Amino acid sequence: MAERVMTMDAGHDGGASPVLAAQVAAAPTQAPHDGSGPSLTAIAAVGANGVIGDGRGLLWHIPEDFARFKAVTSGGVLIMGRRTYESLGGALVQRVSIVLTRDRLWRASNTRGEQVLVASSVRQTAALLAQHTDKRWWVAGGGEIYRQWWPYTTDLDITAVAASPDGSVTFPSIDSRHWRLASRRLREGFAFETYRRSSSDAALALASLIGHAS
Ligand SMILES: NC(=O)c1ccc[n+]([C@@H]2O[C@H](COP(=O)([O-])OP(=O)(O)OC[C@H]3O[C@@H](n4cnc5c(N)ncnc54)[C@H](OP(=O)(O)O)[C@@H]3O)[C@@H](O)[C@H]2O)c1
Repeated sequence: MAERVMTMDAGHDGGASPVLAAQVAAAPTQAPHDGSGPSLTAIAAVGANGVIGDGRGLLWHIPEDFARFKAVTSGGVLIMGRRTYESLGGALVQRVSIVLTRDRLWRASNTRGEQVLVASSVRQTAALLAQHTDKRWWVAGGGEIYRQWWPYTTDLDITAVAASPDGSVTFPSIDSRHWRLASRRLREGFAFETYRRSSSDAALALASLIGHAS
């Protein structure tokens, strides 16, 4: 995949600690989803049928989407699964990548000096995020990782593609009871959409996760 890549371990879903949540909320350049806590944005290009991948290669080629992905995620931290990282063919510049893998021997290839961190669990990923509270946090896929981080995801940045390709990898369904459409910019064949959680549950869960991990 080119520049465009456009989810819980047991015991991480407990109640939020107000103190720890406040520490996380104090992070200087985190973009809070409602101004009251940490934020985590899932970014994905999603077909009309929910498909995001077929495990092989790109499903579509949308240069404006590549450019937008690079622009909005630059300077941030990307959480991604090992399969997605490998599909990129190398590390992404100007971003910190945290790659989840259960393979303790796995090492990132093609880093060209970019910062690629490896985590073997959600908790370990959270500990790494806690070291980067000055940056915006993104979930960059794939399907397994979007689902694992879903309870902590406060915002969505979706490129809604007007095509329904074959593929076994899907994005979680965006339930309008839980997500509020914040913006939509129509393009030819696709639309850029942003969503925010209707409740603060995910922000609280995220603050708790980060607080317990750090
Ligand atoms: N359209 C889009 O915006 C978009 C964005 C991203 C990806 N994609 C597509 O999505 C597909 C890949 O998605 P996928 O669901 O197959 O794989 P994935 O989510 O990218 O990666 C799954 C891998 O992550 C590791 N992992 C998952 N949970 C973990 C945990 N709790 N602790 C440690 N490691 C963990 C495991 O790696 P190990 O097997 O090494 O243990 C697992 O095999 C590709 O087709 C890609 O092109 C599309």
